[in-house]
Order: sequence, then C-alpha cells, then structure tokens
Amino acid sequence: MPKLIVTTRSGETREVEAASGLTVMEAIRDNGFDELLALCGGCCSCATCHVHVEEEFLGMLPAMSADEDDLLDSSDARDANSRLSCQIPFTDALDGLRVRIAEED
Ligand code: FES
Repeated sequence: MPKLIVTTRSGETREVEAASGLTVMEAIRDNGFDELLALCGGCCSCATCHVHVEEEFLGMLPAMSADEDDLLDSSDARDANSRLSCQIPFTDALDGLRVRIAEED
C-alpha cells in the first residue's frame, strides 16, 4: 500500500499507509486525523479538507477544477501548494506523498 506522510496543525508528522483508490482526504481521515473535518464528505463543497502539498508532488496531481479553485479562494490559508484533499485520488504513483493539514479558517 502506498504511504502518505501527514503533518498536523501542531507540527506532528506521521507516516500512514492507505489503500490505493481512496482519496487523500479519505486516507487522512481513516487514519484518525480528526482535525481534517471533511464536512461535505468529499463532494467539493466545504473546503474543510484543505491541505498544503509538498512542492515536489504538486506536478503529479490532477489539475484543479474551477469548483476546487473557487472553494480554496474562500480560505485565508491558501497558498501556491493548496489543494482540497478530497479531490486527489491516492494512487501508487503518489507513494510517499507529503501533505500538511491547512490552518483552520
Ligand atoms: S471534503 Fe468537503 S471539499 Fe473536500
């Protein structure tokens, strides 16, 4: 199973494994990171699954939809590495992906 490396808001970093085929949001949530609320359940309407993706992985991710872009615009914590984790399919190709859970808005 591919590995995902998650840093929490308090700076704690933990490596977890998750089945390929989940979204990154599901992989984070299923591994007990309660601070990623993912309130809409992954239908791209809440932005509470916001993460900052480590630079080297940005180019490997699917392009951002207009809806994702609009939602991220509502976050004060948005930066060039921001993505909604429910919009990123977690695949074997993303093994070792590093993300940091975004600050709470
Ligand atoms: S879980 Fe709501 S936008 Fe990702």
